[in-house]
Formats: sequence, C-alpha cells, structure tokens
Amino acid sequence: MAEEARARYEKAVFKVVDLDDYAAEDEEYEEKLRKETIVLLFLATYGDGEPTDNAARFYKWFTEGKEKEVWLKDLKYAVFGLGNRQYEHFNKVAKVVDELLEEQGGKRLVPVGLGDDDQCIEDDFTAWKEQVWPELDQLLRDEDDTTGASTPYTAAIPEYRIVFIDKSEVSFQDKSWSLANGSGVIDIHHPVRSNVAVRKELHKPASDRSCIHLEFDISGTGLVYETGDHVGVYSENSIETVEQAEKLLDLSPDTFFSVHADAEDGSPRKGGGSLAPPFPSPCTLRTALLRYADLLNSPKKAALVALAAHASDLAEAERLRFLASPAGKDGSFQNSCNVCISLWTYTNRKDSPRSLFDMDEDPTTPIIMIGPGTGLAPFRGFLQERLALKQSGVELGNSILFFGCRNRNMDYIYEEELQNFIQEGSLSELIVAFSREGPAKEYVQHKMTEKATEIWNIVSEGGYIYVCGDAKGMARDVHRALHTIVQEQGSLDSSKTESYVKSLQMDGRYLRDVW
Ligand code: 2AM
Repeated sequence: MAEEARARYEKAVFKVVDLDDYAAEDEEYEEKLRKETIVLLFLATYGDGEPTDNAARFYKWFTEGKEKEVWLKDLKYAVFGLGNRQYEHFNKVAKVVDELLEEQGGKRLVPVGLGDDDQCIEDDFTAWKEQVWPELDQLLRDEDDTTGASTPYTAAIPEYRIVFIDKSEVSFQDKSWSLANGSGVIDIHHPVRSNVAVRKELHKPASDRSCIHLEFDISGTGLVYETGDHVGVYSENSIETVEQAEKLLDLSPDTFFSVHADAEDGSPRKGGGSLAPPFPSPCTLRTALLRYADLLNSPKKAALVALAAHASDLAEAERLRFLASPAGKDGSFQNSCNVCISLWTYTNRKDSPRSLFDMDEDPTTPIIMIGPGTGLAPFRGFLQERLALKQSGVELGNSILFFGCRNRNMDYIYEEELQNFIQEGSLSELIVAFSREGPAKEYVQHKMTEKATEIWNIVSEGGYIYVCGDAKGMARDVHRALHTIVQEQGSLDSSKTESYVKSLQMDGRYLRDVW
C-alpha cells in the first residue's frame, strides 16, 4: 500500500509503522494520533476476537481508554481488517477500531475493509484499495499533477539488489545454523534453531488419521517458557522441493549472495527503498530456499505482476499479467477440473504470542479444563506442572479435565499419561467424550451438562475454567453449555447469567485459547 501510495503521490510522505513501535507509552499514542492527518490501519483478528500481539497494547488503550470524546478532528482514516468469516468474531478488531475512530471525531474515508481469508484476502484488499485511491487523490494530488491520473498505477514492485559473492574470498561464519540466535531476544522476528528430539504418532493403529507429537530440543537456544505459552514453529521446506527449485533456477546450492534494499551508492531503490531485505543475508541459495522461500503456495497476484515485469518472453509476461487480472481469476481455470483437497494438520498456529492462558499461581484453586482433540496440549503442561508440585509435597485443589475424541481405539491421545495424572493425583477427575462410538454424538459440552453441579460448585468457589481448541464449533458450544449451567444452577435470569459469565471473563477466571 505504502509503495503504491509513494509512487502515486510524490509529495506526500508515507510511513509504515508497526503499531507497537508507533508509541512507547499510551500517552504517546494520543499525542501522535492527534497530529496525524491521514492514517491507514491494517488490523488482523484471530482466535477469540483478539488483536495480534503487536496491536494488543494499542487496542487495549484505544478501546478501554478514558473518555476522549471528539479529539480526532483532523484525522482522516481508513481501516482494512484481516480475518476469516468462519469465525464468530469476524474482523472484530478492525470493526471496533473503525467505529471508535469515527466516534472520536475521525473522518472515515471508505467503509472498513473486511478481508476474508476463507475466500481471497488479496482480492478483498485490492477492492478496498481501489476505493481508497480516489479519496486520497482528492486529498493529496496537486491540481496540475496529472501523473497517474490517466495511467492507472497497477502494483508496486519492490526491487532488491542481489550481489553474488565468491565464498573463497570472504571469511564468513554461517551463524544461521547455530542454536542461539545471537540477538538477545527470541520472538517471531528472531527465532532460534532447534532440532526435533522426539517424533511419534499419537493416533492408534486403527485410526485413518494422524496426529503427531513433536518434542524440540531447546537446550543451548536460550528459549524459556511458562506453562500455557504458545510456541511458533517455522519449518523448513523439504529437501526434494528445494532441489527442484535449484534445478529450475539453474544455480548451484552453494551460490553465495547478499540481498540489499538500497542502491550501490546507498541511495534508496525504486520500490525496495523503504523495505528491509526479505531475509537475512549473505547466505547460500540452499539456505534461502530451505528457510525463507515459500515454494509451495501459489504466488500472490503482486508477485505475478512483478514476475511479468521481469519476464523476457513477451507471451509469458502477458500470461502472467492475465493471471493476475480479475478476468484471469475465472478465465484461467475454464478448461480444468478443480479438485479441493483439505489436508488436516494438527500443529498449533504459526504465530507465537505470549499466552494469557496460564495457571493461577495458587495451586489450591480448583480448575476445570476443557480441551478436545489437540486442545489437550496446554493441559498436559498444566498437569505436568501440578504433578511436580504434588510430588514436592504441595497441596492441590480439585481439577477436572474434559477431553473429547472420536474413538478410544483411534484418537484417544496421551491416554496413558492422562491415566497416570489421575493415579498420581495431579488430576482429580478425567471425563472423556467419545463422539463416534455410540449412535449419537457425545461431545465435551454434553459431558459438562452431566456434571453441571460439580462445575457450578467449582465456579462459585472461585475456581477457573480453561477452554482450548477449535473456535468455530467447540468453543462456541461449550460457551453455550456453560451459560445454561450457570443459569440453571445459579437460578439466574438470562441477563444476570450473561453478566455473571462476562464477569468470569473479566476476572480472568474463564480463559479461552481457541483458534
Ligand atoms: P466429531 O469429529 O465426531 O464431530 C476432537 O476433534 C473431538 O471434538 C472430536 O471427537 C470431534 O467430534 C469433536 N467435536 C467436533 N465438533 C465439536 C463441537 N462443536 N463441540 C465439541 N466437540 C466437537
């Protein structure tokens, strides 16, 4: 967006800022926003209607902030949201911020863009962008400026300078293979390398699906974690895929090169000027393809346009442009048979926010854990920690785990470990719903209803409820079941029930880690 805006409006200055870097403190958000004239906000929503980590502080400040009334009188803004319509809180963060900006005096340039990853977020973005330009034209284009007005600007193509290096002439230590990342912090931008120490299949032989348990050896990496944290995993491309790409490029795997965003004399390059190189270099072609190149996704439209600009074969360039065009979207598939294959993977999500999903510090606090399928993962951590506490003589509060799977002979994962938690007393009660054993579906929420009295006792004693797993179906249904339990057991009317459950959430006693 910024690249394109820079190309369109030569005199305007566009800055791209991570919301976290925009202001170090809340007051600074206010101070800076007051002075802005045009702001385009790109906000993703994930999980349970939450902002991403880097927007969390801004979102909290902006939504919970003091009464500011109409203080953004000079601000013109547009918001584009990134979300998925399959989820209950579709693009919640973008919608909320868009509304609030208007309430506080900002002038909305275009309706909030609701990017839907269930369909094609790139198309949604393009459509939104096309609405934004005419608005910005009015604000930023000089009367006499006709550039771009007649020739519509298609897409910004970032360009980088690549320098091939003779490896024998430089002394270079490839630090990218060492375990510690050498940067002092470990986060999504500064990952560490670790090896897989254990890999095993969790499903039983009778199952026709797969669920993999992986253990990463983090010794020497400096990585530390607490129970309930998320880990993000960047995997490498398979060597077969990489070798194929090397063949297509007709370059040796040891080709050593560096990538630069600036020109040789240090001045900014067209397009690439404001962007950092896409990955750390110098490195070998093998490393770049293994670690950093996305070799298996179909290319984004912007990439097709960029490729077209560099294609030496005119017919190929034409074809690439066509594929990137709206007509190409439908036209390209007319003579083909389309098959949609969904591949079920059972890994956790790719980002690595620090989780709010943590155990209460007081181990005597009673807890209810609800985690069907891979939603069980964090509770293994909870129960392991409780086991260690128990073994060191600490008194534990009551704990119930609701787990759900299809069939005890197929996907009852970690069965022995769970039985052991019961035996050793780190788990008081284990309740499993098998959804495909009997004639009717048995889900965790059905089991919860059977245990309504116990659940109510724990909740009213100040206990905690944790839910982990699928957001689209399970977490929503479990939420309803909890509602009914609170309403019936507490003899509350529906609005009192509503506020009771809300207060559990506000107090951090009803925690959900769902996706
Ligand atoms: P199903 O596949 O038989 O529908 C782990 O994936 C378990 O969660 C499975 O037993 C699955 O059952 C079940 N599950 C699917 N949808 C659910 C929902 N809406 N609420 C609770 N459990 C659900």
